[in-house]
Parts: sequence; structure tokens; C-alpha cells
Amino acid sequence: MAEADPARTAGPMTLDLARLPEAELERSWLAEHKIVGLNSGDSRSRPFNLMRTSLMNLLGSDETPRLIGITSATPAAGKSYISANLALSLAKVAEGIVLLVDLDLRRGSIATELGLAPTRGVRDFLSGDAALHEIGLRVEGLPLAILPTNAEPLESAELLAGENFSRLLSAIRAQPAKTVVLFDLPPIFANDDAMLSIKHLDGYILVVDSSETRKAHVEDALSMLAPAVCLGTVLNRYRGPIFDKYGYGYGAGAYSKYYDT
Ligand SMILES: Nc1ncnc2c1ncn2[C@@H]1O[C@H](COP(=O)(O)OP(=O)(O)O)[C@@H](O)[C@H]1O
Ligand SMILES: [Mg+2]
Repeated sequence: MAEADPARTAGPMTLDLARLPEAELERSWLAEHKIVGLNSGDSRSRPFNLMRTSLMNLLGSDETPRLIGITSATPAAGKSYISANLALSLAKVAEGIVLLVDLDLRRGSIATELGLAPTRGVRDFLSGDAALHEIGLRVEGLPLAILPTNAEPLESAELLAGENFSRLLSAIRAQPAKTVVLFDLPPIFANDDAMLSIKHLDGYILVVDSSETRKAHVEDALSMLAPAVCLGTVLNRYRGPIFDKYGYGYGAGAYSKYYDT
């Protein structure tokens, strides 16, 4: 029988983001996949810059790594779209490293959205088939690292309840000061994957699809995830007017372009 590789199976692990293999992001691919967070000239990047500033204000001056989940009540609400765009927007101004972890083990899409083609991912690490340094990528020219996943429909709950998930989180918590970590998660109602992971994070952002998500969904999601901290909600795919506190409408004409596809 082959001997187990200790880098893959035992003891505490380290993750040196600076030493991960480098990957280049192709602007044309990003544009095609609506990943606009890097491009300040694109008005669609503005909501992500606003989100970035709100998040940075919320995180305050504490310099320990912050682990933030992005989830939704129902599927296809835009979690991965928002995770990828927010990560890029954060990376443009970050003082530390931004780490984007695809933890949607059944339907991970971050690698595809960013045009990366990793051979292994988080699922391989969790199942003991890859070492941590074998699954990560560093993005050329940006303080951004990605832990992609290779999605499969099976056994995610077992993997998230397992010892390697604790090792992954410890290695992430041991990152240098000012590291911001975004976890792209599955939807809450689909299975218990999101609940299993969120309880280990510092908080989560709830993505609300303006046409699909009902008030009751949001209330149920918040109570299912309690006592985890909801850092905020993002209303996605909203196309109506925006009113200020005096009742003046900014109007779809002025603002809808920020939400155009
Ligand atoms: N605000 C938006 N504008 C344009 N396209 C969007 C928006 N939100 C989501 N999408 C698209 O909708 C699809 C589903 O979004 P995705 O982020 O994959 O959902 P989830 O990760 O919640 O399942 C993707 O093709 C994504 O690019
Ligand atoms: Mg997704």
C-alpha cells in the first residue's frame, strides 16, 4: 500500500499565498463573463466599489484575517457573480491580500468565471487528494489569490464536516494581517453545506435576488444561520427606481445602468 503523503493528510498546514503558481486574468474573458470589478471605467463596477467600501468600514481597523461568506436563500441569486466582482474590486485597493475561496463544492464556478483552468481544487484538498499549496492560484499583478473548486454533486456535507476543512480554516486564519477572505458558498435552502461552513466564518453577506427571493425566504435564511453574523444584504438584479430619504426618486434612467447586464 502506498504511504500517505503527510502534506496532504496530517497535522497543521500552512498556506503561503505568495508562493502559489501565478495565473493571468484575460480582460476579454472577464468582460464576456460580466466580471467588471477590475474596470473602474465600467459603470457596472460601481455597486461593487460601494460594497467594498461598506465592507471595509464594517471590518474596521482590526487587522486579523476576516473570513466572510457570500450566500443566498435560493439558487442562482448571483452569489458567484458578486463574489468574483467584489474580490476584484477589493483587490484593487487592498492593503493586504484578498483570498477568494470557492466553497460551492457542488456547483463551483469561480474558476470558469475568471477564465482559470485549475487541475485541482478545494474538493481535492478536503478529500485528501491534494495538498493545500497544490490547489491555489495567485493572480498576476494583483494582491489576489484564488482557491477554486472542482464541483461534483456528491459528499460535500461530509467534506465540510471533516478534519481537512478545519485545517483549511486554520491555514486561512493564520494568514498575515489585513488579509480579506471571501467564501463563495452554496444557497442555504439547497442543503446544509452553507450552514456547515458559515458557523466557522466571521460573518456573511446575504444576496437577495430582487425578483426571486421573498421576504419569508430572507427571514428564514437569517434565522437558520443565526447566531452567525449577517454583515449585510445585497439586492441583486434590481431594476426599479432608487429613492432618497426625502422621497426624491433617482429614477431608473439615472441608476439602472449600474445594474444592466
Ligand atoms: N446583477 C447581475 N447582472 C448580470 N448578470 C448577473 C447578475 N447577477 C447574476 N448574473 C448572472 O446570472 C447567472 C447566475 O449567477 P451566479 O452568480 O452564478 O448565481 P449563484 O452563484 O448564486 O448560483 C450567472 O450567469 C451570472 O453571471
Ligand atoms: Mg455560484
